[in-house]
Amino acid sequence: MSIQVSNINKFYGQNQVLHDVSFTCNTGETLVLLGPSGAGKSSLLRVLNLLENATDGKLTIADNVFDFSKPISEQKGLALRRKVGMVFQQYNLWPHKTVIENLTEAPIKVLGIDKTLAKQQAVAILTQLHLADKADAWPLQLSGGQQQRVAIARALMMKPDVLLFDEPTAALDPEITSQIVKIIKDLSGTGITQVVVTHEVDFAKKIASHILYMENGRVIEHGSHASFATPKTAQFAEYLTH
Ligand SMILES: Nc1ncnc2c1ncn2[C@@H]1O[C@H](COP(=O)(O)OP(=O)(O)OP(=O)(O)O)[C@@H](O)[C@H]1O
Ligand SMILES: [Mg+2]
Repeated sequence: MSIQVSNINKFYGQNQVLHDVSFTCNTGETLVLLGPSGAGKSSLLRVLNLLENATDGKLTIADNVFDFSKPISEQKGLALRRKVGMVFQQYNLWPHKTVIENLTEAPIKVLGIDKTLAKQQAVAILTQLHLADKADAWPLQLSGGQQQRVAIARALMMKPDVLLFDEPTAALDPEITSQIVKIIKDLSGTGITQVVVTHEVDFAKKIASHILYMENGRVIEHGSHASFATPKTAQFAEYLTH
């Protein structure tokens, strides 16, 4: 099992944004998080990467175990981020570094990989994502879709066990979206576990092995891809009609 979330609650001040969230995600699954705006999808994703702490509950992810009712050391957070990568809607590339520098920075600094080797690995991943000719470009010289693929390439450089995506196609046109679909599908064939937040049901249907549907911070439906055709709850059925 790659991810196990048990009874997670999260408050922002008085506002409870996650209510007793529990689910499991097996290694190699592509779990899509769906739900209306404000449902808590991004909050949950950030908890999975410890970008936010939950108020209480337990998380096991990529063999790291966290109990949010106790303080979590910085060291444990760093250990998690070596295994769990994140790709954001707003790419978050370093604008003053070239594409290849964006890719090699963390492997060299965090993993201590030799510079030449890191560059070789970067070129291999860029080639795989059809970006080999952009290695020396600056992020702002790239289209949105290319920047998103660089962001995915950068996350892959860390050889993560789990890759988290928050609305990876929100700013992209349909053709680029289909490239992202292909990347996610190819990755799922490698055994990596992926969790993808999206609003786009068509995109979700193409990539999901499993779905988690949330409303108001609560899990409403958790199922396999079959939930799209045969929703178990009235709420998810209703959501799919939009
Ligand atoms: N940093 C924050 N501080 C306070 N409240 C927050 C913060 N981030 C999110 N929230 C609140 O948490 C709730 C869930 O937000 P979240 O961003 O997780 O929703 P979402 O499902 O990702 O929505 P969307 O589809 O619009 O991205 C919302 O009520 C939001 O206002
Ligand atoms: Mg969000």
